[in-house]
Order: sequence, then structure tokens, then C-alpha cells
Amino acid sequence: MKILHLSDTHIGSEKYFDRDPLIHVLNKLNEGGYDLLIHSGDITQEGKEEHFIEAQKLLSKVETPCVTIPGNHDKRSGGIALYKKYIGPPNGTMEQDEAIVIFVDSCVQDSNDGRVGMTKFNMISRALREYSDKTIKILVIHHHILPIPMAGRERNVLSNAGDLLDLFLRFEVDLVLSGHRHYPNVYNINNTVFVNAGTVSGKKTRYGDVNSYNEIDIDEDKLRVQTNRFINKKSVDVKEYPREGRRIFYDFGEKRFRIIHISNTFISPSTKFRQLHFLNALKNINSLEGNVLVHCGGIVEEGIPRDYDLAKNYMDRFDLPVVYTPAGRDMNYLGYDLYQEHFGDIDQSFTGKNFYLQGIASSQYDSPIGIIGETQRERVFQKLREKQNQFKCIFLHHNVLPIPHAREKGLLEDSGDFLREAVDEKVDLILTGTSSHPFAASVEKTVIVNANSLSSVYQRSLFGNSFNVIDVYDEAIVVSEINCLWKTRRLLGIWERNNKK
Ligand SMILES: [Fe+2]
Ligand SMILES: [Fe+2]
Repeated sequence: MKILHLSDTHIGSEKYFDRDPLIHVLNKLNEGGYDLLIHSGDITQEGKEEHFIEAQKLLSKVETPCVTIPGNHDKRSGGIALYKKYIGPPNGTMEQDEAIVIFVDSCVQDSNDGRVGMTKFNMISRALREYSDKTIKILVIHHHILPIPMAGRERNVLSNAGDLLDLFLRFEVDLVLSGHRHYPNVYNINNTVFVNAGTVSGKKTRYGDVNSYNEIDIDEDKLRVQTNRFINKKSVDVKEYPREGRRIFYDFGEKRFRIIHISNTFISPSTKFRQLHFLNALKNINSLEGNVLVHCGGIVEEGIPRDYDLAKNYMDRFDLPVVYTPAGRDMNYLGYDLYQEHFGDIDQSFTGKNFYLQGIASSQYDSPIGIIGETQRERVFQKLREKQNQFKCIFLHHNVLPIPHAREKGLLEDSGDFLREAVDEKVDLILTGTSSHPFAASVEKTVIVNANSLSSVYQRSLFGNSFNVIDVYDEAIVVSEINCLWKTRRLLGIWERNNKK
């Protein structure tokens, strides 16, 4: 199956729309060889009737079957009515031989934000169930599920991106196609390939980039994504992923070390702090022979002396080395000074036998917003590059992947650039601790794990308060979650290691 994937045509006035590249791509399409054209939204610049008419005229010349969805720009000024009139239904499914394409409108009228409401969410999950026998499952959605690099501040994220990501991974969707950020990007997460298209004919490109589109080939053995930048700067990027199925590990090799990962203890004298959960987990963790305990922030409920003194008393009872990184609430009030007085540096690191952990301070005073910043990013990756042949782990408070069961707010402002660099630098593991729900997935070969709250009544998992255990073997990384009260264990995932020994 060969797909031509383009996005963000922004058909409109000359100020926003460049006709030539679009005509060029449509002509190429009509030369043949493609099974499907997919347009992932922002067909027009402003949702105006004359531009929908023009879009309809251009698309009617296409001889290949075509799937389109609206973008936020198409839904401006009531444009959705015109979209339906001139282009087609904004949601639905299309069957093509062995493939099913599910397309969904993720846009909120007159807003740049994304949302897939409960009805549509259920529609997607029903379609995935109904067509589970299809060998190629494709999802088309305008808004990006994952943070995109070179796109500036992370924003207009899908409010339920975490639930969608979880759904796509659970149903083993092969391909998720998006647009919106006007920068092309490809990630393979647990064998689901997420492809973001740049803008094919919009004049708003980023970081000096030019217009581009994607060609995607899917056969039995592999999925190949080719990004074509074709005007001025002619370049071609290719990513290829095997499709031979989900490998089951039976030989992990020798176990090298164990990391215990906790977050959001929210220690305070109030009843919101679950003392019993904390003490049971403490006892269990002390018996697990971990090499290091990583606390991803939210140590105290508030940054005041009463909470810090109590937290120090509790945290000192762990028998293994502990490293910390602060959350916003750890720095509230007097927190910035109290944190350092009680728990040490703002950016901590830990050197183990053949592994290295580097903390990133992403929090700020009185703010839920996280930022790493260019200076800190450069410094951290420079430090990691010096640790050759070692297992490299970064830990920070803010989430990098969207978390299920939580409203995604894109709180880490530069998550797009950070994630791309961490993946390209082959960082083995990223630990985070926001939103109080556990989650783990592997982006290319970088395993990313979020921890639930260890001991706060405010947590979102039906499994209950928990902590994570990360076991690193020669061949594999095994991540599981352990309930604080009952010690029950749930596997979050097993992944092949990046730099196998
Ligand atoms: Fe756009
Ligand atoms: Fe958009």
C-alpha cells in the first residue's frame, strides 16, 4: 500500500497560501502508483466558502481515493458547515482491501485547541474493535498526539491525548497521521508509527524549513516513511520500521540493576497524605534491593517548613540512595530554599555501576508550567555524551508523553525539542512524575515511564497508589508497577534495550 500524506494546505489568500507546491504534488499523485491520498487537515486558511470551493475543485481532479479531515483553521467562522458541504464527512472510516482508515475531527470551533469528545472516542474504539482483523490500521487526526520538535512552545495539544495514545497502542494501530504543527516528524512507539506532516503549501513554516509532504509504503515486512522537502531545499528523509510482529522476549540476559521510581508523595500532616500507604511502600521498597530510588517531585504538599521537616523525617527512612527533582509545589512559598536545605541540589545526578542518572529541574515558582530551556538542555546532553557506553537515564517532574486519565495540558513547554533530542541521542530511559497516573511506552528505543502518586489521596489509577520498579537486564528493560498498600504487581511493559551489552 502506498499513501501520499499531505497536510495544512491553508488554501486562502496569497499571504498564506502558495499554489505551486500543491499543484506539483497533486500532479505527481495523478501520475499514478498511489493507493490513497490522506489530507490531515487545515485545508483552508480561514474556513471561507470561496476557499472551500477552490479546495473542492483541486481535490476533484484527484483520481486516487482520498481521505480528508478538518483542521482548526477549517472550523473558524462556522467553517465546519462548509466543510461538510464541499469536502465531506469530518469523521468516519474507509475500508481498502487489507486496510482500515479511521478519520476523526479533533478540532474545537473557533479555537486552536484539540479535543476528541467521548462520543468520538468511543467511535474510534468501536471501529478498532470491529476492524481488528485488518492487517493495516490507520488513524488520521489533525492535532499531534506527541510533542513535535522545532515547533516552538508546546500548545494546542489534544486534551485527551493520553487516552488516545493508550488506545492506539493497545489496539496496535500501525500508523497515526497528523498535521497542525507545520513541521514533519516521525516516531515509532511500541510499533505504532506516528507521522506528522509539515505544511505542503502554507507559507507559515518554522525554523527556516520549507514545504513538505510524506510518502508512506506499507508492505508485509516494513513500514517506510519518506518526507520530501521539494521546493528550494530538495531533501528526502527516510525512516523504515520492520513490521514482523511483536517480539516476545525469553532471554533477558543477566540483571544489571534496579531503579525504584516514585512521585507525588505530598507529605504533610493533613489527611490527604496517606501515611499507611507511604509506610507500607517504604517497607516494601527497603526489601526490594534497588540500587537507587528516584523521586520525580511533589515531595511535600506545600513548600512550608512544617511539610519539609516531616518529609525529611519520612524520606530518611529509605535504606537505598535517593535522588530528587522538584515539582512546582515543592518550590512554593519557602520551598526553593527548604528543598535545598533538606534534600540537596536542584539538579541532582547519580552514578551507578554502568549507569548514570541525570535530573533536570523543569519546575518554577508558583507555576504548574515546566520548562527545560535551551541552556540546560545543551548542558544535560553534553554531560550525557561524556558517559559513553553507559546506560543513560534522565529524570524530571513534567511528563514528556501524554498521560492517560489526565487532561493533557502540554505543561512542559519545550517537550517537542527535548523528546526529539533524547531519542536521537539514544537516552535509554526517561522518568517523569506528573498527573498521578502510571504509564510507560518506548519512543524508538527510549523507554519513558511516568509514576503514579505514592501516597496522596489525589491519584487517578484504579490500581491505587503505586510506585514503579525498573529492572535493567543485558537485553531488556522490564517496567512494573507495585501497589503501595497490597504489594500487588502489574507489568507496564518489556522493551528491548537500546545499547545491548
Ligand atoms: Fe495548519
Ligand atoms: Fe492546525
